[in-house]
Amino acid sequence: TATGAQASPAARTTGVGRPHSLVFDKTAYTLRTAVLPSADGGTKEVTYRFYAPTTYVTDPLDAAHQSLVISVPVAIDGRKVNTERAPIVFANWVGGYFPVSVAEATGVGEGIMEMPNGQVLENNGNDTNLPKLALAAGYVVVEPGARGRTLVDGEGVYYGTAPAVIVDLKAAVRYLRANKGLVPGDTDRIVSTGTSAGGAMSALLGASGDSPLYAGHLRQLGAADASDAVFAAAAWCPITDLEHADMAYEWCWGEAQLSSTGTLVDQNLSRELRAAFAEYQASLRVDGLGGFGRLSARNYDDYLLKTYLQPAAMAHLSGLSSDARSAYLADRPAIQWNGKRASFTWDAYLAHMGGRNKNVPSFDGFGLTTGENNLFGKGTVSARHFTRYGLDHDTTGLGADRLDKDIPETLALMNPMHFIRRRHAGRSRHWWIRLGTSDPHTSLTVVGNLAASLSGLGDHVNSAMYWDAGHATNRDPAAFLRWIAEVTG
Ligand code: DHB
Repeated sequence: TATGAQASPAARTTGVGRPHSLVFDKTAYTLRTAVLPSADGGTKEVTYRFYAPTTYVTDPLDAAHQSLVISVPVAIDGRKVNTERAPIVFANWVGGYFPVSVAEATGVGEGIMEMPNGQVLENNGNDTNLPKLALAAGYVVVEPGARGRTLVDGEGVYYGTAPAVIVDLKAAVRYLRANKGLVPGDTDRIVSTGTSAGGAMSALLGASGDSPLYAGHLRQLGAADASDAVFAAAAWCPITDLEHADMAYEWCWGEAQLSSTGTLVDQNLSRELRAAFAEYQASLRVDGLGGFGRLSARNYDDYLLKTYLQPAAMAHLSGLSSDARSAYLADRPAIQWNGKRASFTWDAYLAHMGGRNKNVPSFDGFGLTTGENNLFGKGTVSARHFTRYGLDHDTTGLGADRLDKDIPETLALMNPMHFIRRRHAGRSRHWWIRLGTSDPHTSLTVVGNLAASLSGLGDHVNSAMYWDAGHATNRDPAAFLRWIAEVTG
């Protein structure tokens, strides 16, 4: 039952009127029929119930973002679908840590990401509209909006910076779980999905289920009093572990060319950060998948080659016609193929993948100009440092000698690794993790450590990379949708 609707009516500060009810109205849908793409590359005619945007907290700060839509398949290509026990695909549209909204959606798969200057990006830069594919596969699909880093109110206060996005997504999960029996599908089988910043948030939803660390934030919004744990979490190219992302980036791409200029970044800075990564990696005490042993800054390149990069190249090459494969290999002499396996060195891989797309440091910019600086803004301050290294090299004249007091906790609230390192009991036990091998938006070790750490806890991890694929690529949605059936069955 929805308990949030009974929350105290005191302290409504937002001028949105009466506290919003958290009781799901299962009659409030329109029946729609659409031809949707399906994961096998074809199309399906899907008749579905579309539940218009509904606010998932009693006291929204911003209902245009704190709302979700639900799509429920009724018939697919003329065959009736029973969704009583169907898993729920909880597909967030977050990208770039920007705000996302489904407030204008009139059907499945229409969430938008709001970029600066009023620019709007549909499909979140993804090459795949997963909500549509999931609906066409017979799943219940929930698409939540969420606040993002660029939102500013009339007083100049940034109200969508960290941890707003994860608080909102958790509130949306709570809404569903509070309405168990009313919301279509199985609210105990929620499978979270997301890409890039959205992948980070999906991994975080998976890692931090029911953590008390968020309780105060959730209470403030009037989130439903229910579990926010999800059954499974899927993350494509998650941009996460942000406080270690600069050092990891230099370990991975420090000696790769900057793709915009063809030059190397400042190697003194890069080397300092690489040294910090070695310490960080050692502190994780994590073993590689497949019995690789303890991962370190010294063996991580070998690990990535064997566990991810060469298998990805192999899968790609074996999928090509022999003519196409010969042509591909002829142009890339550094890649060897013996009919079964692809092999190449780390340096060959770096030369092949196209170079880095971010300068040094990549995330906590000295001039406070990165998206992540903005993500950690607070109050009327649009951007802040969130690492000691960034602060120490600040070029904006801050003159501060310590990070703001709230930063450590805010970082924890945004980082799945925080919960995984503490073996957080409320986490998902099923994980799908994917990354393109030509995606320099963060270090390959971010995905590497996420997958290896979870596996080390005994969780079921399905992780892989897509060869020659760039940022926000999803090459195997059909396999993912089958995986959902497997793990929830
Ligand atoms: C995304 C990409 C980035 O390079 C980044 O730093 C944060 C988010 C994204 O595509 O979501």
